[in-house]
Amino acid sequence: MTLTLAQTSPTTTACDAIIVAVRPNGRGLEVAGHGLTPAQAKKITDALSALGATGKSGEVTKVGGVSGFKAPLVVAVGLGAVKDKVDLESIRRAGGNAIRALAGTKKVAIISDPEPELLQAMATGARLAAYAFTAFKSKQEPKSAPASAIVLIVPGPITADQKRIVAEVNIVANAVDLTRDLVNTPPNALPPTALAAAAKKAVAKLPVTVTIWDERALKRDGCGGILGVGQGSANPPRLVKMVYAPRGAKAHLAIVGKGITFDTGGISIKPAKNMDEMKGDMAGAASVISAMQAIAALGLKVKVTGWVPTAENMPSGTAQRPGDVITTYNGTTVEVLNTDAEGRLILADALAMAAEENPALIIDVATLTGAQRIALGARIAGVMSNDDDARAQVCAAAESGGEAMWPMPLPEDLLATLDSATADIANIGDGLGGMLSAGVFLNKFIPSGQAWVHLDIAGPAFNDKGPYGYTPKGGTGAAVRTFVQVAKGLAAG
Ligand code: BES
Ligand code: MN
Ligand code: ZN
Repeated sequence: MTLTLAQTSPTTTACDAIIVAVRPNGRGLEVAGHGLTPAQAKKITDALSALGATGKSGEVTKVGGVSGFKAPLVVAVGLGAVKDKVDLESIRRAGGNAIRALAGTKKVAIISDPEPELLQAMATGARLAAYAFTAFKSKQEPKSAPASAIVLIVPGPITADQKRIVAEVNIVANAVDLTRDLVNTPPNALPPTALAAAAKKAVAKLPVTVTIWDERALKRDGCGGILGVGQGSANPPRLVKMVYAPRGAKAHLAIVGKGITFDTGGISIKPAKNMDEMKGDMAGAASVISAMQAIAALGLKVKVTGWVPTAENMPSGTAQRPGDVITTYNGTTVEVLNTDAEGRLILADALAMAAEENPALIIDVATLTGAQRIALGARIAGVMSNDDDARAQVCAAAESGGEAMWPMPLPEDLLATLDSATADIANIGDGLGGMLSAGVFLNKFIPSGQAWVHLDIAGPAFNDKGPYGYTPKGGTGAAVRTFVQVAKGLAAG
């Protein structure tokens, strides 16, 4: 699905439905933006008022046959009242709600506010909502198919700025959709080798080099974490490195994503209920792969190295046992007290390797702990760091990219809960503050002085409830937009 821009008249645009954003203004409803003449806007707001529309955020009202409009259906979407400033997320969600309400409609036009930030928000929400994962359906269902064409109508000549915004929205949304597809792909169709192949394919036409470690290379290089987790599966583990190093790069960013293609828990096996959702335990990896694609396609002037450690966590006669001690890439020995705390083991190798290159910043992203969902819920990611400025930088990038992320501490005291009688460190703490102790564990693999941020996206990566705004059920594409914003910030110097 590609989003396009057109300078046509809202009344004569040929489409199956036309979307217009409205908000309450105290006296009634007003149409947002400047796409319509006052007379045209009044026709729509009159029809809406008769239907009882209020313009509140999230409201979608369909009006058939508004006189003077060629579109057979006008869809009004509420933005809510403007408080102190226009809330871009409410515009993204409005665009998303309208597009979702139009499933089964082919060509949709949107009367957009032409102002760059507002245009971008509307385009992003609409484009991200037009998603469905049907690769494993033997029959397609046209009634629930998302719009196949979305055109943003702007008044006046299309500017270079508007063109650039729409091109960017398409690149970023394609990357978000790739993450969703990878997360939604069944685990039998996406073992570690397939995830590594997907990384290659994602950047095949872009200036990104991809190196893949197989089991022999992992052994040669001492990646005991990745090998330990992967040893229980018939599907061997991999490590993928992706490098984008454009001429004139301002800084070096490293991004590291957890790629557990299925997490049974291993010998410390998980309960059966909802275990299928653990196909999404590679969401961090998927967002790293997708961010590499988007950043390279945007041509951002920043060097980015993507690291994807990937393994399948299975119980078997060759699986690691609770009590096993493994030696990770940087020589640290880890007593594996719980084989279900596997993400931190594969990240330990990849983080230590990423740090050898002394990037300006390392960000890892992982569906790491159930405790993240207890602490922050299903929609807000936890942000931990060894550096206050870096944490603030990433939280600000998330905010500007439209993702909900919140700062969390890394209490030094929790290190003592990771003490092991046998090895340097144990892979679980005492069960309290589980999101934080996982972060404290990862910190052991970051050399001092190396700026590092850890994103726990266990909740936000996978929407197990109904769709809302521009977020579909299943894989959400969490962290991709944040990575793009961080890279943009570094490229701007
Ligand atoms: N992949 C899970 C975390 C998870 C849980 C992600 C639910 C998404 C939804 C992770 O590998 C895990 O099992 N973590 C354990 C750690 C514990 C054993 C210390 C957990 O959170 O229970
Ligand atoms: Mn686990
Ligand atoms: Zn896991």
